[in-house]
Amino acid sequence: MSDRYILAIDQGTTSTRCILFDRRATVVAVARAEHPQSYPRPGWVEHDAARIWRDTQRLITRAMRSAGIGADQVAAIGIANQRETAVVWDRATGVPVAPAIVWQDTRTSSLVSALDPALISERTGLQPATYFSATKVRWLLDHIPGLRARAEKGEVLFGTMDSWLIWNLTGGREHLTDVTNASRTMLMDLSTLSWDPALLDVCTIPQAMLPSIRSSSEVYGAASSVLPGVPIAAAMGDQQAALFGQTCFAAGDAKCTYGTGGFLLMNTGSTPVRSTHGLLTTVGYRIGSEPVAYALEGSIAVAGSLVQWVRDGLGLIGTASEIETLAGTVADNGGCYIVPAFSGLFAPHWRSEARGVIVGLTSYITKGHLARAVLEATGWQTREVVDAMNADSGLALTGLNVDGGMTADNMLMQIVADVLSVPVVRPMVAETVSLGAAYAAGLAVGYWSDLQDLRNNRHSAGRWDPGMDGERRAAEYRRWQRAVQSAVYFSD
Ligand code: G3P
Repeated sequence: MSDRYILAIDQGTTSTRCILFDRRATVVAVARAEHPQSYPRPGWVEHDAARIWRDTQRLITRAMRSAGIGADQVAAIGIANQRETAVVWDRATGVPVAPAIVWQDTRTSSLVSALDPALISERTGLQPATYFSATKVRWLLDHIPGLRARAEKGEVLFGTMDSWLIWNLTGGREHLTDVTNASRTMLMDLSTLSWDPALLDVCTIPQAMLPSIRSSSEVYGAASSVLPGVPIAAAMGDQQAALFGQTCFAAGDAKCTYGTGGFLLMNTGSTPVRSTHGLLTTVGYRIGSEPVAYALEGSIAVAGSLVQWVRDGLGLIGTASEIETLAGTVADNGGCYIVPAFSGLFAPHWRSEARGVIVGLTSYITKGHLARAVLEATGWQTREVVDAMNADSGLALTGLNVDGGMTADNMLMQIVADVLSVPVVRPMVAETVSLGAAYAAGLAVGYWSDLQDLRNNRHSAGRWDPGMDGERRAAEYRRWQRAVQSAVYFSD
């Protein structure tokens, strides 16, 4: 088996990666490509799903070539993906009917305000928000002439990125999704793990366009055009895949992934725990026919995308990593705070109408202070979701496992440790999203035998201990909370 590998596809918000792993979870080859973000109007965010599929095929080929292996050496394919983003395509031609509406898009806020919060949270474990897929699909059905009638006949199909890629990889044979992705549509009943007729009715979405819901780890079918015959054996929302890749298999295990956004997930075991502090209850993973592992999630909409905005929108830095250098030119934030409510505020506030603010400006403030405030915004948003997680679970988090691209920023990791007042630990394999998808696929085909096999692969690589004085931390947190109030007050 040593000459066989697992291929993970991580279809994220800003880029797609294809990574080959060996049995010891070592990265053997990586191919990555960014795709354009389209912002056609304020609050709108779109992706070209056809382009993403083309990138995926190209990246698979590139990763295989760089490892120097053939399709017969790939034991299985696992997929992790940006969640909630909605794609609707023509069943006969495979062509998307419109640009994909991305999870960050807020165009459906008026549809969301008409929803019954009690019904949504009781059935789905979610909070009504523009974040989830349901209102995005409804928006497309309402705005594209004739689409609803075609959807009712099953002539057009809906899927999140996992469904879209599996449908394409199998040459249009399989229209399915996994239970973690389905739990983010706002259409799945969290206890029955099936589409909820009442929610379909409320959101006016025809069942005929929906994929079937499967576990996160099982053989769904074989790839056709690219890697023909290789089993596609896992799909997971990327944040759940990171939970799995960090081997958070026991109730109480938690991780936070810093990518475009920040997502703190805690495994809560086989019973869903309902949040009373603004977190989401969601599916963590399901391996074959085993019981589902549920999770509590604190979702932060904007983390790395704030750095991206400073680079692309403001032009203050040339590369994302320069934010750390710029922030290092000053000793502190100079009294400046940035609340990046670009997509409203997610957990624990759930205010879709909030908009971003920069507060505390004086002529003393330089771009260095702004850079510092950018990094601190991720720290304080993490603090808010950790406080909610502690309150919901009745336990105090004693350390935070982190992963994702932003964890390469040492200053940010130190800030997170400081504002949480707990150690922050990063694993050796930082590509935990891909690793989680690979693990789930490998388990399905017997490449790895059990969870212990996976735990043996985990090694820590970085650790940051808290160093901030308690009084200063409390004072800074109070100022951050006042800044958040300004973002809510300055609503759309
Ligand atoms: O819920 C959105 C999340 O899945 C996006 O993750 O890493 O692609 O920003 P990422």
